[in-house]
Amino acid sequence: MLNLVLFGPPGAGKGTQSQKLIEKYGLIHLSTGDLLRGEISQGTELGLEAKKLMDQGILVPDEVVIGMISHKLDANKDAKGFIFDGFPRTVAQAEALDRLLESKNAPISGMIALEVHDKELEYRLLLRGKDSGRPDDANPEVIRKRINEYNDKTAPVAGFYKNQDKFKSINGIGTVDEIFDAVCRLLDSWLANQ
Ligand code: AP5
Ligand code: MG
Repeated sequence: MLNLVLFGPPGAGKGTQSQKLIEKYGLIHLSTGDLLRGEISQGTELGLEAKKLMDQGILVPDEVVIGMISHKLDANKDAKGFIFDGFPRTVAQAEALDRLLESKNAPISGMIALEVHDKELEYRLLLRGKDSGRPDDANPEVIRKRINEYNDKTAPVAGFYKNQDKFKSINGIGTVDEIFDAVCRLLDSWLANQ
């Protein structure tokens, strides 16, 4: 199995690259942000609770997203592998993911971080906010809050994978295709060493 954690701050391009990667490698895309927005659009209780936090740019509780990921792993038992996008976002989530995958004998192959500076992130998210309909894109204060949440709670997750010797980072600025090529080079080298 190929299990990739695609990492990076809000607007780094995780979702954009995931779309291309699932096509090329036949993986299942698991984005906790997309799963939460699905709950919101269905009007579930979980979605309504999550929306209050997401609209402010604050992370939802660990147990909520861990439960969603566990459910999706169980529902895709025959998958060739997964791309985790926007998850894990705290060290507690990373520990829980290791435990979930241990029971399936399919550990994380590696983490790839997309490095993008804050000015570019703010530019990309405000631009998308013009027509994305995502309440957390439209407002510069909420975008800043998302970046601060990333720096406080999510950036330490890189250290978790560095300790396991599974961390790689690439420049996330450039064309979508240039970044895709760099990610593919890493994935191909992991596949060759499996
Ligand atoms: P989530 O949906 O995960 O959002 P995010 O990570 O904050 O940011 P994005 O998804 O907007 O960024 P992205 O890196 O996917 O970039 P994209 O490809 O879209 O989370 C939303 C909220 O849900 C969180 O704030 C939190 O409340 C909650 N949540 C989710 N997961 C959670 C978890 N695990 N724990 C707790 N809470 C959780 O690209 C962005 C834009 O840039 C697009 O317009 C794109 O077209 C453009 N773009 C992409 N690549 C390039 C490029 N190379 N050059 C120029 N523009 C580009
Ligand atoms: Mg995304």
